[in-house]
Amino acid sequence: MTLSISDTAVRSLSDLPSPRGLPLLGNVLPSDLPRLHFVLEAWAKEFGSAFTVRLGPKRVFVCSDADLLQTALRERPEGYRRFSPIESVLEEMNANGVFSVEGAAWRPQRRLVMQALASRNLSVFFPVLKEITERLHKKWEHSANAGQVVDMAQDLVRFTVDATTALAFGEDPNTIEESGNVIQEHLAEIFPMIMKRINAPLPLWRYFKLPSDRKFERALHAVHRHVESLIERTRKRMRDQPSDNPRNLLEGMLDAANQPDSGITDEIIVANVMTLLLAGEDTTAHSLSWAMYFISQDKSLQSRLHLASTEAFGSSQVCPAFEDVKKLDLFEFVAQEASRFKPVVPLIFLEPIKDVVLGDVSLPSGTPLFFILRPSMLDGERFGRPNEFLPERWSAGHLEVQPHDSKAYAQFGAGPRVCPGRYLAAVEMRLVLSMLSRNFSMELATDPDSIKEIAAFTMMPNTMPVRLESLH
Ligand code: HEM
Repeated sequence: MTLSISDTAVRSLSDLPSPRGLPLLGNVLPSDLPRLHFVLEAWAKEFGSAFTVRLGPKRVFVCSDADLLQTALRERPEGYRRFSPIESVLEEMNANGVFSVEGAAWRPQRRLVMQALASRNLSVFFPVLKEITERLHKKWEHSANAGQVVDMAQDLVRFTVDATTALAFGEDPNTIEESGNVIQEHLAEIFPMIMKRINAPLPLWRYFKLPSDRKFERALHAVHRHVESLIERTRKRMRDQPSDNPRNLLEGMLDAANQPDSGITDEIIVANVMTLLLAGEDTTAHSLSWAMYFISQDKSLQSRLHLASTEAFGSSQVCPAFEDVKKLDLFEFVAQEASRFKPVVPLIFLEPIKDVVLGDVSLPSGTPLFFILRPSMLDGERFGRPNEFLPERWSAGHLEVQPHDSKAYAQFGAGPRVCPGRYLAAVEMRLVLSMLSRNFSMELATDPDSIKEIAAFTMMPNTMPVRLESLH
């Protein structure tokens, strides 16, 4: 038995409080899934930071203690893994890549992805990212002049798919300027189904298919066709324009697949293209949408951000050079502060791979662990003035807002499997929010109370309509 942290008496799962559930079905019903984080947060208020729920026949350990989350995240891969249905569900979607794969197979995939997403690559890639931001600016300028309301949620997933595809796969698909049936519409079908299947008490879809399963399979098929043609074009480019070093992640993986003992196969390549499309798209787009939710309701914040972007890049409408990205800290702080209130990752699902003691609770190998992230981020003992929107709290050495327990902010995870896309996400968020603030004033085109949180693996707004006014 591993001792994660324990200097108090050990409790077992059956000693912990638990809400009353239904026979067979347990506590979490399929209809609860789009609001699973709310349901668990409400129980955390009632039962405290450690309790159990039943997911059909399984007893789940639910925990809102940020220190215990850090322990479990850091004791990977030896002590803990992701909740095992994540791997089996993604495996049957042919998407078992670096996010979900476990054991010895994880390391070589992690190494390739880390190289491709390293911060030094972002400087080389900056001109493309700038071009994609200029395109978004042009689209928003057009909407502002035409008096049209912008559907931010939709435009931002187009932006993030273009950015991820350009950086990781060497192609800029320009979905921002495309209308109609883009890949994002199929990706949007996939996330809620992953959420539903990993939390299903029984894998019924393996025995009979509902119309929603068939719809999901059609979307998945479309994404696979997209991925396969991307790989085909990359192979051709590598033949027609050979290069000594891989120019992006996909070329790196195709190169590695040709080396003996690399452990990288064609199947792994497809799975990782799927993984990066999924991991890079919704997370960043929804973080940006939630940041806009706060910015659009606060005129004085808008003035400060306008000034900061003008100071950083003068008369340019978009951040002109990679060196200038460093001047845009305030924009990243705004995104971070927005996600403290509206976490795009509200839950992290893990399980121990051997019997462990976490805190004072004894957990048998294979126990599902659901960590809830928001309660610690809104806890006055971890973040001073917790209910105020204060982007400056994130600046290094800012001592006015104390305490500041950055370990309680786990939006990118922690430990050996911490998000490798966090540098790309940070640059994307800085570029979009600074471009927005430099060029537009904005207001929500709906009642803020009508914007609801939906848990679909990541946590997204049901809508984010915004009215922009050009500042030129
Ligand atoms: C605001 C944006 C993002 C957020 C909040 C986010 C959050 C996360 C979180 C919480 C994890 C799990 C970390 C852990 O288990 O410790 C993760 C893993 C991962 N993310 Fe991100 N992510 C973001 C953007 C991106 C982007 C842009 C990419 C790539 C294009 C990306 C690729 C990945 C991958 C490949 C993993 C799996 C790493 C592994 O298991 O080794 N993410 N992300």
